[in-house]
Amino acid sequence: MTDLTALTGQALAEVAACEALAALEEARVRWLGKKGALTEQLKSLGALPAHERPAAGARINEAKAKLQAAIEARRTALERMQLEHELAERRIDVTLPGRGEEAGGLHPLTRARQRIETLFRRAGFEVASGPEIEDDFHNFEALNIPPDHPARALHDTFYFPDGRLLRTHTSPVQIRSLLTHGAPIALIAPGRVYRRDSDMTHAPMFHQLEGLVVDENVSFAHMKAALHGFLQAFFERDLAMRLRPSYFPFTEPSAEVDMSCVFCNGKGCRTCKQTGWLEISGCGMVHPNVLEASGVDPERYTGYAFGAGIDRLAMLRYGVNDLRLFFENDLRFLRQFQAAFA
Ligand code: FA5
Ligand code: MG
Repeated sequence: MTDLTALTGQALAEVAACEALAALEEARVRWLGKKGALTEQLKSLGALPAHERPAAGARINEAKAKLQAAIEARRTALERMQLEHELAERRIDVTLPGRGEEAGGLHPLTRARQRIETLFRRAGFEVASGPEIEDDFHNFEALNIPPDHPARALHDTFYFPDGRLLRTHTSPVQIRSLLTHGAPIALIAPGRVYRRDSDMTHAPMFHQLEGLVVDENVSFAHMKAALHGFLQAFFERDLAMRLRPSYFPFTEPSAEVDMSCVFCNGKGCRTCKQTGWLEISGCGMVHPNVLEASGVDPERYTGYAFGAGIDRLAMLRYGVNDLRLFFENDLRFLRQFQAAFA
């Protein structure tokens, strides 16, 4: 048997000299591993006479335990040194001023939507919503637009292979809400809609604000008053508004709501296509067929509905002359809205 005391001394010296955890692990394997120098000692016990084996074995195990403890102590020390080193290296001076701290801001369309919701809630409307992936029934059929109706062509619909579609307007929320809650009802439903459409005032994804009021004795005059009241409150200024006779399959009579163009004060410019007016909403009295398809008795109830372009409303309020700016995420554009507007 090699001199155990000498071996142990050598092992302890090596462990004490280890400066890194990896080196310490190597030393552990070298001495205590399966083929380690101290482990080998145990194997040589067999060569000793039987009566010497227990005492020799005990000494070897004692040496192993001593080394094991030394390794653990060294590991703890090395780990602490490493941690202290890292802490010193990454020290953060919390008293220094922040670097490039910038508050975010709400997107102008979000601001416009929140403002709209606040105004309508104040007037007693609920805020409703519906799915952006719709089916033919809710987007067309129940809105009095049967499969062969020419109005479908105006909607430039994005279809899924299974026949479902991206809703082309928020009007399907009228159907869903009436089917769920029945009459009387007073709601708005802001949300995203999709059409194959793109120019200065049209985007393939844009936002509509649906409005629906169904009750006994609801009239066209109620609708005009509600729209006018809303627009006054939203713009906080006296912009001219006009109702232009129009057609929607789901309302009768129908009209379109125009606001005088804020960019040219109604004189005619590129944004309003030289008309002096910007179309912001469709509206009308809910068609009896729509009430019927939604389970509401058209003999008892009447209602009005409107569908406004939130993007158009935001353009007019914030003086943005190209709707596409809202979707380009140019920070120079978005930063202008950080705090200035409600
Ligand atoms: C409709 O979508 C009807 N559902 C509105 C309606 C609801 C009428 C309830 C009657 C009763 P229209 O296709 O005209 O109608 O769109 C309504 C508004 O959305 C328009 O006045 C316009 O402000 C806005 N809009 C339409 N297309 C786009 C587009 N591509 N990009 C941005 N805004 C658009
Ligand atoms: Mg229109």
